[in-house]
Amino acid sequence: MAQRRPKISVIGAGFVGSTCAHWAASKELCDVVLIDINGDSAAGKALDLFQASTVEGFDSRLKGGADYALTKDSDVVIITAGIPRKPGMSRDDLLGTNAKIVKECATQVAKHSPNCVIIIVSNPLDAMCHVALDASGFPRERVRGMAGVLDGARFRAFIAEACDASVEDVQAFVFGGHGDTMVPMPRYVTVGGVPLMQMLPKEKIDAIVDRTRKGGAEIVGLLKTGSAYYAPAASAVQMAEAIVRDKKRILPCAVLLKGEYGQNGLFCGVLAKLGAKGLEGVPALELNSEEKAMFQKSCDAVKELVEAMKKLGA
Ligand code: LAC
Repeated sequence: MAQRRPKISVIGAGFVGSTCAHWAASKELCDVVLIDINGDSAAGKALDLFQASTVEGFDSRLKGGADYALTKDSDVVIITAGIPRKPGMSRDDLLGTNAKIVKECATQVAKHSPNCVIIIVSNPLDAMCHVALDASGFPRERVRGMAGVLDGARFRAFIAEACDASVEDVQAFVFGGHGDTMVPMPRYVTVGGVPLMQMLPKEKIDAIVDRTRKGGAEIVGLLKTGSAYYAPAASAVQMAEAIVRDKKRILPCAVLLKGEYGQNGLFCGVLAKLGAKGLEGVPALELNSEEKAMFQKSCDAVKELVEAMKKLGA
């Protein structure tokens, strides 16, 4: 009997969730289950995608509904449920509402897939990772947040454009929380192996760093009714792929720091190795004093948010 395909469940069948299902299935990574409180909408999107698979030629079975029993024994669960921000809102304005939603989702996920790896996408990202860790009771290896890949993707896109280079040749990442204090790391950017600092003047790099920090808000401002979904979904699926294919990729993502970079008991974005076991290591990167100060500021902002959430009783 052939080994079964990996199974990925996506909680929340809005734009981010359904786009995750689309990309995960079309890469033939896995079978996909889409869950939403509006079960018919999730079932309809899954059925539509399954029918598309015959035209596009990918073998992935898709199912959708409201019942978490469908997610039973998933290998990876991507939680996207929650409200998105509207123009003028910060990610932090979503705190109380999304904490309740994510708590319920993570509790159900852990019940039906006690061995899965959870990837959080809901905002405010770093705080929602704390909610999911507590509600699931999982070890830190199996709960992480998707933000660094997305923020890094924005950083890479702007660099590729500015350097007139292939996106494939741009290596770049972002540290810190998924908010205004995030820390893009230009000192470590290379384009085809050439350091960015040797390719662009400082003012141009500073402008790219600033646009990256505001990358989510730029899209919210354009869409007006919600936030980005193609790049967030692609980023979550890249993390899921690293896990189901045991690729041992080193990707920036939010992990519970236990002493690394001087932080303890806090989720924040750093480089992390992702494989079948989930988090398989946190490579130590040397930060200079300026980077250390920016990272600390970002960790302090996350800490403040987690404290605020505790006060809300979420
Ligand atoms: C963004 C949202 C999804 O950065 O956090 O686009």
